[in-house]
Amino acid sequence: EVVDVRGRVLLPGAVDVHVHFRQPGFEHKEDFGTGSAAAACGGVTTVCDMPNTHPPVTSAGRFRAKRDLVRGTSHVDYGLWAGGTDVAELAAMAGLGAVGVKVYLNRSHRDDDPYTDELSTPDDDTLRAVFRACAERAVPVAVHVADHEREVALRAELRAAGTADARLVCRSYRGDGVLAALARVLAAAADTGCRVHIAHASLAPVAALDLIAAARRSGVRVTAECGPPALLEDDLARLGVLGVPFAFPASEAETYWAALADGRVDLVATDHAPHSQADKAAGRDDLWAAPPGYPGVETVLPLLVDAVLAGRLSWSRLAALTSAAPARLGGLAGKGAIERGRDADLVVVDPAATTTVDAARLHSRAGWSPFDGRRLAGAVVATYLRGREIARGGELLPGAPAGRFLTPGGRA
Ligand code: DOR
Ligand code: ZN
Ligand code: ZN
Repeated sequence: EVVDVRGRVLLPGAVDVHVHFRQPGFEHKEDFGTGSAAAACGGVTTVCDMPNTHPPVTSAGRFRAKRDLVRGTSHVDYGLWAGGTDVAELAAMAGLGAVGVKVYLNRSHRDDDPYTDELSTPDDDTLRAVFRACAERAVPVAVHVADHEREVALRAELRAAGTADARLVCRSYRGDGVLAALARVLAAAADTGCRVHIAHASLAPVAALDLIAAARRSGVRVTAECGPPALLEDDLARLGVLGVPFAFPASEAETYWAALADGRVDLVATDHAPHSQADKAAGRDDLWAAPPGYPGVETVLPLLVDAVLAGRLSWSRLAALTSAAPARLGGLAGKGAIERGRDADLVVVDPAATTTVDAARLHSRAGWSPFDGRRLAGAVVATYLRGREIARGGELLPGAPAGRFLTPGGRA
């Protein structure tokens, strides 16, 4: 699966099943042109885009509108997630080729953010109805597990205390209530036979990894993702609110690296969350006012290559995490490996080079990166999409966007 070519390493193009390219409705943050350029330059050749747009993708009509809106604008291949609130619409969205259904257990914690409210599925009856509908059609459900009540309570507490400690906010996202929410999701999956995928499993106490492992042992079809746990609490001195909520105590970061290596976490996905610096800066006075997340699709592979060269992962484990496993989740036939019959989506890596992340050279409209200035071992040299070189040396090559809309075909 991994071929060493004269000192270079050839990897299968990365498949990122969790990005937010913001169309329609938030084009001032990102669109498929800018988001996919970032993907291509970073070695990601397929993305699956989340439904928390404005309006959110919760009906067949909206799914079709989004599909038509972005057609011809993506530099990499792409699939689309459907939002799981209206059970009556799920079959039609699956019929249109949704890679799966996304469910949010949280609601918006920001006044200017009406869209996750409309997308949330907090009660158990709705959750189970969504799971049953998806199980019937063999559609996976990705879940944003959260403890909404605690998020709200903590926000009030921090506000009242006037705290400006970004560490507390990061930690608050991973309160114990998240474990109860996760247990509820896993029980619903067990009862309905639905295939579930736990989004950003690192936004939970580390004990979540044991719950997921136990469910898997008892036959629940569950997978888990996280991004490279490369942001540490120490970085918050420099990043402040820009690091919320994905900065970890060093020991937790080590646990997630180990979980990525040993299979407790099945795949890497970035949760590429492009927010403008101005939007994030709203959190300087009120940390909860800052939207969560950071742009990560262009830096994920460089960070993982660095991790391989530091001995945290093997090359083949990297390929499984970034390509084979996510392609399997999305049912993306043609993706996931370098072998006969697959698309020639390839990434050339130079393990002898070094990379210094330069936010000014990245392609997301966000215009910033929490990893700005970070020095990494190795470099992504070139990206090929279906045999054509689309990016080299961190820049797009000339040519019309060649990304295709993918629908699930080879679901394992
Ligand atoms: O960090 C996140 N950012 N988590 C989400 O669920 C939403 C996302 C976004 O859209 O920015
Ligand atoms: Zn999420
Ligand atoms: Zn997300």
